[in-house]
Amino acid sequence: MIWIRNGRIMDPESGLDQVGDVLLDGDQIVKIGKVDSAEDGCQVIDAKGWIVAPGLIDVHVHFRDPGFTYKEDLTTGAAAAAAGGFTTVVCMANTKPVVDSVDIYQEIVDRCEQLPIKVLQAAAVSKGFKGEELTDMDALYQAGVKGFTDDGLPLMDEALVRKAMEKVKELGVPISLHEEDPAYIKQPGVNQGKVSEKLNYGGASYLAEAVMVKRDCQLALETGASVDIQHISSAQAVEYVKEAKEKGAHVTAEASPHHFTLTEEAVLEYGTLARMNPPLRTEEDRMRIIKGLQEGTIEVIATDHAPHAKEEKEKSLAEAPSGITGLETSLGLGITELVDKGYLSMMELLEKMTVNPAKLYHLPQGRLQEGRPADLVIFDPEEEWTVKEYRSKAANSPFTGWKLKGKVKYTICDGKIVER
Ligand code: DOR
Ligand code: ZN
Repeated sequence: MIWIRNGRIMDPESGLDQVGDVLLDGDQIVKIGKVDSAEDGCQVIDAKGWIVAPGLIDVHVHFRDPGFTYKEDLTTGAAAAAAGGFTTVVCMANTKPVVDSVDIYQEIVDRCEQLPIKVLQAAAVSKGFKGEELTDMDALYQAGVKGFTDDGLPLMDEALVRKAMEKVKELGVPISLHEEDPAYIKQPGVNQGKVSEKLNYGGASYLAEAVMVKRDCQLALETGASVDIQHISSAQAVEYVKEAKEKGAHVTAEASPHHFTLTEEAVLEYGTLARMNPPLRTEEDRMRIIKGLQEGTIEVIATDHAPHAKEEKEKSLAEAPSGITGLETSLGLGITELVDKGYLSMMELLEKMTVNPAKLYHLPQGRLQEGRPADLVIFDPEEEWTVKEYRSKAANSPFTGWKLKGKVKYTICDGKIVER
């Protein structure tokens, strides 16, 4: 048993926001409110001044396992997640081999069972990530897959995407889409604009994203599928998502901490550490993402945690791989950049990091309620800390050295303390 005392208990689904106690028994939350006593041997956590919230959920991470475990593996990825306050994550399928069959899926899931947090695995939409032929989505669903994605690559064949959407609609799971049309990309990872011109780098136009988001919003409307637009980066794409939602499409959008914090200018300062797909864009785009978060067009914050080795990121801007690690700085950036600056309330931030991603993937987690899984994060919203070391194998982050507000004190998964 764990008795969490005198914390500020926040549950975004019910709106509960009050100081009190939470009692955990086994893997369940058994009592919220005033707890007078607990049985002998019960562990007590004094949470005075701290926020007690549902364990964070990240529906977009890359743990590189199997195939690229020199960058990250399931164990180090899970450790990074726990350090960041996450109790559930969804791994993307761009491993080697890609997760396009039940055998590969099952092999990963079996190894995830030993992990201290809940690591779920998404499956590929297309065989071999080739964008030509659908995977056996029925069989993968039967095996337990909760979502499909070819993240890392766009799906260019409209007929295939339509078929995939019809299938996920039937199965009742989301399809997550990486929206970048190569026709509008001269060189990836940097926005086509002022900075790319200065660097004499080709760059990726915002249109690469916008045209695909427009297409897929239309397909979402026509098929009724649950469509998740990943790491949205441009103002125009946010507009298209807003319009589609107003028309009744089941479209969800994810914003990553780097896209709501940085602009293309970061490439000048951080070099390859600011190279990512889709790229960081202009201040206008960044502010539209923040407005999208405020108005509810963007319901989910997801990191796109993309670890890469030091040697890889030391290559030139043209040759280095895209992506940054994100799990350990996500909550701190949310509090520092969104809550502290007055764009979102703490409850709104938590909603986008707990219950909304849970709803997208139809998970029972993400709620701080009696009878729900005992997955929690306890953090000090006021404590400042400097980003230094990482639990991840990788350290490819432009945020190293940044001072952030909001420090994780405990991560509890299934009633067990996994981080303190
Ligand atoms: O920058 C990125 N890196 N974007 C993606 O979508 C994939 C990711 C990766 O796998 O490294
Ligand atoms: Zn992606």
